Amino acid sequence: MRIDIITIFPEAFTPLEVSIVGRARERGVLEVHVHDLRDYTADRHRQVDDTPYGGGPGMVMKPEPFFAAVEAIRQETQGEPRLLLPSPQGRPLTQAVLREFSRAPHLLILCGHYEGIDERVAEGLGVEEISVGDYVLSGGELPAMVIVDGVARLVPGVVGDEQSVAAESFSGGLLDFPHYTRPPEFRRMRVPEVLLSGHHEAIRRWRRKEQLRRTRRRRPDLLKRETLSDEDRRLLEEIEREELL
Ligand SMILES: C[S@@+](CC[C@H](N)C(=O)[O-])C[C@H]1O[C@@H](n2cnc3c(N)ncnc32)[C@H](O)[C@@H]1O
Repeated sequence: MRIDIITIFPEAFTPLEVSIVGRARERGVLEVHVHDLRDYTADRHRQVDDTPYGGGPGMVMKPEPFFAAVEAIRQETQGEPRLLLPSPQGRPLTQAVLREFSRAPHLLILCGHYEGIDERVAEGLGVEEISVGDYVLSGGELPAMVIVDGVARLVPGVVGDEQSVAAESFSGGLLDFPHYTRPPEFRRMRVPEVLLSGHHEAIRRWRRKEQLRRTRRRRPDLLKRETLSDEDRRLLEEIEREELL
């Protein structure tokens, strides 16, 4: 998979050189290219922003450098990249959206700053606006890295153990179960006995029940009862009975 990022702060992307994404890039499973928007300006001052029409505070990013950058990247690559524009006004980013992006062979992410990007970039380039949450950040760089990291771990071969991705929060519509490692007792807190039992079926059932318990308690909005299995419903009834005790 290939991901291109257009930004005025290419140096902000060092987090994509380490850990899982960094290793995937080294192994060639994932290609990430970061482009400096100022390289696509035509004036001596390499200007990327200007004052807003209609007045008001702040600056607006100019459309021409974004069009030039996108067109240059389109020319040097095959096929049509999926264009993403991080924006607090966009479609909320979820695990399902990341999964959808991970199936695209090529993503191109445009990072905005200041008051945002001239509206004609969204209109004329056919971008998808994506929000990483109902809050305002100062630029599109962190949202772009969130997208790259979240997408990368869904690309086959990036995370060593694919089962660990499949079991993570949101993958099956539920939050993850609690995890423990050695020692079995730490500061008088014990690892649940069942996890030390070696009884695979009991462990699987306990984990599923804890996923349901956590999701019910922390994110009831995610619990879609109609999609639960018969076993899930029985486990939920057990949880509800336990809570009445
Ligand atoms: C200060 S913000 C602009 C906010 C814009 N004036 C508004 O109120 O919708 C500058 C840039 O940060 C990025 N950004 C800020 N918050 C974001 C969010 N929640 N999700 C995705 N991108 C965001 C976008 O690229 C945006 O163009």
